[in-house]
Amino acid sequence: MKVLVVGSGGREHALAWKLLQSPHIDRVFCIPGNGGTATMPNCQNVSLSIDDFEGMLRFAQVQGVGFTIVGPELPLALGIVDYFKAAEALIFGPTREGAQIEASKSWAKDLMQEANIPTAASATFQDIASAQAYVQAQGAPIVIKADGLASGKGVTVAMTLEEAMESLERILTGQFGSAGETVVIEEFMAGQEVSVLAVTDGKTIRPLSPAQDHKRLGDGDTGPNTGGMGAYAPAPIATPELMAKVQTQVLEPAIAALRARGIDYRGCLYAGLMITPEGEPKVVEFNCRFGDPETQAVLPLLDTNLDELLMACVQGKLAEFPEIKWKDQASVCVVLAAGGYPDKVETGHFVTGIGKAEDLGAYVFQSGTKLKNNALVTNGGRVLGVTALGDDISHAIANVYNAIEFIAYDNMYYRKDIASKAVQGN
Ligand code: AMP
Ligand code: GLY
Repeated sequence: MKVLVVGSGGREHALAWKLLQSPHIDRVFCIPGNGGTATMPNCQNVSLSIDDFEGMLRFAQVQGVGFTIVGPELPLALGIVDYFKAAEALIFGPTREGAQIEASKSWAKDLMQEANIPTAASATFQDIASAQAYVQAQGAPIVIKADGLASGKGVTVAMTLEEAMESLERILTGQFGSAGETVVIEEFMAGQEVSVLAVTDGKTIRPLSPAQDHKRLGDGDTGPNTGGMGAYAPAPIATPELMAKVQTQVLEPAIAALRARGIDYRGCLYAGLMITPEGEPKVVEFNCRFGDPETQAVLPLLDTNLDELLMACVQGKLAEFPEIKWKDQASVCVVLAAGGYPDKVETGHFVTGIGKAEDLGAYVFQSGTKLKNNALVTNGGRVLGVTALGDDISHAIANVYNAIEFIAYDNMYYRKDIASKAVQGN
């Protein structure tokens, strides 16, 4: 079977790589893909835009693609799944309505309230005066969020009232365009974060191995927020007891509430959770897709054929699907970023040493790369995600940092403390 993967990040490289491990998949197309998917055997990039639904559907039909999987949120929020479904083309991902769970934070909050899903108390505003009055009354710390999609940049965790007011001003005066017409103001939650990526056929929902992302740029969780600087799985904080609560208090009620709204959600539902100091899961956000870089940490642990699992979701047969199998190992993914990230990034630097890192057993998932005259050059903020497995998290950490030693490009930057929280056990 041939499969089409939509997107260009490390997540999509990891999805394409994992799909090609399956005996059923002989070819993967990536739209538009990156330097990694361009050079992976049996994988081919296709130069189409991810909002060109007509072009992508035509390509899938002409090539006889068995099914399509969508990486990023934008095409989902724009209705790619509705478009493919109307032509009876199989596709993994929620419809435009279902994607609202990520595309509108106030919509997601309403759904959580309806389903009694534990989350931060919140209020929604459109005019700045009432928003300011609310923030003044609540005090800091407090969390301010643009309602719509803002590429991970629409959230301010304000430790002072001044910061909160500044953020309100930025959002409601148009810095985020229509994504900031509405603002969601939330209670600050303390604790550790866990990402549970779960797959669902709209009736049954099953979690993948729980992961922890590292959103801040600097070691010790300092500096600005980023798309994610590294991840590891399984996250020891997500004990079996905690995962049982996540299943019954978060995942199942979410799917039931979506169904109650007439939404047949088939795809990945990503629950971003805060684990409170009391050990209770509270939802920070839902995403309508796989996480990046969580996917690059989780998929190398998966011992089930990914295509079979995704197809079971697309076809509404997840309840009958056998238990998902995992390697009894730990996985750590470290993101190698470009100089200047997350602001203005440098591009066009030659990347070397990937083969040597792979010889050591690491998986190198590419994101901000491209081929230029057959040479690999940097082409974005997050350049590579290097993943290594180990018998426990300490060994996985040692293996991944060992492999990274061999990789080089000008002004390469990465965090040195990915997964160290899991070792300290806090
Ligand atoms: P979001 O885009 O909603 O995931 O928010 C981005 C990041 O902001 C999260 O991963 C958290 O680290 C932080 N955050 C969001 N909401 C809250 C909250 N209510 N309390 C504490 N931190 C939060
Ligand atoms: N790793 C965070 C995200 O995918 O949204």
